[in-house]
Amino acid sequence: MNSKIKKIISKKNKSKIVSLTAYSKNIAKILDKYCDITLVGDSLANVLYGHKNTHKINLNNIIQHTVSVKKGIKKSLLVVDMPKNSYNSPKKAIKNAKLIIQKTKCDAVKIEDYKDNFKIIELLVKKKIPVMGHIGYTPQFKKKFKIEGQSLKETQYLLKKAKLIERAGAFSIVLECLTSSAAKQITDQIDIPTIGIGSSLNCDGQILVTDDMLGLSGFYPKFVKKYTNLNRIIEKAVKKYTREVKLKKFPKISNFLNGPKLRK
Ligand code: KIV
Repeated sequence: MNSKIKKIISKKNKSKIVSLTAYSKNIAKILDKYCDITLVGDSLANVLYGHKNTHKINLNNIIQHTVSVKKGIKKSLLVVDMPKNSYNSPKKAIKNAKLIIQKTKCDAVKIEDYKDNFKIIELLVKKKIPVMGHIGYTPQFKKKFKIEGQSLKETQYLLKKAKLIERAGAFSIVLECLTSSAAKQITDQIDIPTIGIGSSLNCDGQILVTDDMLGLSGFYPKFVKKYTNLNRIIEKAVKKYTREVKLKKFPKISNFLNGPKLRK
């Protein structure tokens, strides 16, 4: 097993796992200093491409962004979302997961839970492809957003799914939008780490979409904490640049490229 994956698993019950999403090198380089896991999420469909859901992201899109992200990664575990329809048969799942790993040199793939596709996880793991599971709100398969685990029956169903995914060989599971009680029961009853998003403190780690927590995406559900307001910061800079161009204050002599040096 990849030593980075071993390290993630060893954090269970010891220290919280920090994860965020990245879609490009510059952001990945910053995240890599702090995060245990960097995820190239298919949320890039909404966040970067402006689609209304994650369904239109294809294998080429995710590979291209991961190639960029990989250039910024030195130490964190690089996990890549398999796009919708790229793992809907065993043959396709193996072919596409291998392609993602071969083209991007990422460490693992993530697949969303749907029906009995824990069997796909089992197959991939047998082929030595590390897999992260994802249960609860799974945007590739659920149209309507809903907090999951609100009844005993729902919690038992989620727990059963988590156990099947663990047994299939996944090294970790994302719990998206679960009640804190469901998250606690799952986290307590499986041996692999749970990474929560909108699922309370009762998880072994947390993940957020980076553009959301930076205040850039404009998507701020209750579970997102905005750690800064990049929208405002960027707008301020763009406004200042606009004013300086119009007033001929930019560029100054020091910004001209009329010498042999590119930089000062
Ligand atoms: O696509 C994504 O960014 C994700 C996270 C929200 C877990 O799957």
